[in-house]
Amino acid sequence: MKSHLWLFSLFSTLWSSAAPEADGCEEGGGCREDFQPVNYSSPLLPQHPGHMFSEHLDLSKQQLSAVPSGKFRSFCRLKVLFLSDNNISSLDDGTFCPLENLLKLDLRRNTISSLGQGFSLGLGSLKELLLARNKLTHLSAGSFLQLGELQRLDLSANAIRSIDKMAFRGLTSLRQLHLEDNQLECLSAGIFPMLQRLEMLHLQENQIKVIDADVFTPLTSLAVLNLTNNNLTSICFRTFLSILSYSTHILLKGNQWHCNCDLQRVFHKLRDVRRLSLDDYSSLHCTKPQELWGHQLSEVESKLCVAETVTVLIITLTVVITVVASIVMAERNRKKRTGKHWSEDSDMSYDSQS
Ligand SMILES: *[C@@H]1O[C@H](CO)[C@@H](O)[C@H](O)[C@H]1NC(C)=O
Ligand SMILES: *[C@@H]1O[C@H](CO)[C@@H](O)[C@H](O)[C@H]1NC(C)=O
Ligand SMILES: *[C@@H]1O[C@H](CO)[C@@H](O)[C@H](O)[C@H]1NC(C)=O
Ligand SMILES: *[C@@H]1O[C@H](CO)[C@@H](O)[C@H](O)[C@H]1NC(C)=O
Repeated sequence: MKSHLWLFSLFSTLWSSAAPEADGCEEGGGCREDFQPVNYSSPLLPQHPGHMFSEHLDLSKQQLSAVPSGKFRSFCRLKVLFLSDNNISSLDDGTFCPLENLLKLDLRRNTISSLGQGFSLGLGSLKELLLARNKLTHLSAGSFLQLGELQRLDLSANAIRSIDKMAFRGLTSLRQLHLEDNQLECLSAGIFPMLQRLEMLHLQENQIKVIDADVFTPLTSLAVLNLTNNNLTSICFRTFLSILSYSTHILLKGNQWHCNCDLQRVFHKLRDVRRLSLDDYSSLHCTKPQELWGHQLSEVESKLCVAETVTVLIITLTVVITVVASIVMAERNRKKRTGKHWSEDSDMSYDSQS
């Protein structure tokens, strides 16, 4: 009860003190220097009139349904802002404008279904953005454009199906990207541009079936690629070969491998690439063909190319036999012909002599 009252007064202060809205990020006045930074969480608030100058603001579990744009204008000292466990369904562009000192923004467990182009306005210092357990279905271009300092982006447990090619543009410092537990089916080339610092890419628990061969090429620092529990049936050698990082651990357990000779060959080649570690190779299971269902790929791999080897042997044998046969034939013909020539020659010499 107390905290609700406080919230009410906090927001009414903000409403009345805020300058008229602008689309971009304007310099907010109102940041006075005569209060020491304090930390506080809601229950303590009424005792701290200096809340406007605090570094940590905890507004989690307050049943907030909206955060009107620009209302944080006077919180210029803020470093950590908790808005988790509320009922926030949308965020206006510029909502967090200009929280220039904010390092961590926690929006987990709300009902946010989309992020606008101006979502990141004013968040140029942010290092950690947590959006797990919301209702995002699509990531559009430009949403994270201003987040040049961001190191950790958690988008896990949403319902993301599609990612715009330029959605992650601007995230030049990003080290960890959490996309696990979403509904991705396809990773198209170009969705991870300019993420040269990215070390961990969490894509487990999706429904990924198709991976474009060049999608991981820009990730030159990648150390962990987690593709556990997806719908992969096969992979291209080039897809992983194109990861040029010093050392990358790739996790592929829990997919729906179609165990055939092609797959065996790709894995055989991948395991020879020094910089790639297929850590859970021995736990990969076959889904197809029917007779190999549930078998470990590593156990059946030696048999997968047997049919192909036999075919190749038969073809080789056929070729060899044909070649040998034609050589023999040619030789026999030559002998026949030379024999004839010889007898013609001797006839001739005989004639001339006579
Ligand atoms: C606020 O809390 C953070 C982390 O709990 C701590 O690092 C910081 O020193 C605290 N600041 C003040 C002014 O108490
Ligand atoms: C959350 O917001 C929706 C409408 O946006 C409303 O129907 C629902 O009752 C709210 N839930 C809570 C717990 O406040
Ligand atoms: C990869 O994902 C699986 C499934 O969620 C998880 O159990 C495992 O710890 C993850 N491994 C790494 C290295 O992230
Ligand atoms: C992925 O596999 C799961 C479990 O086998 C299945 O229910 C789902 O429909 C598959 N998704 C796609 C896109 O194939």
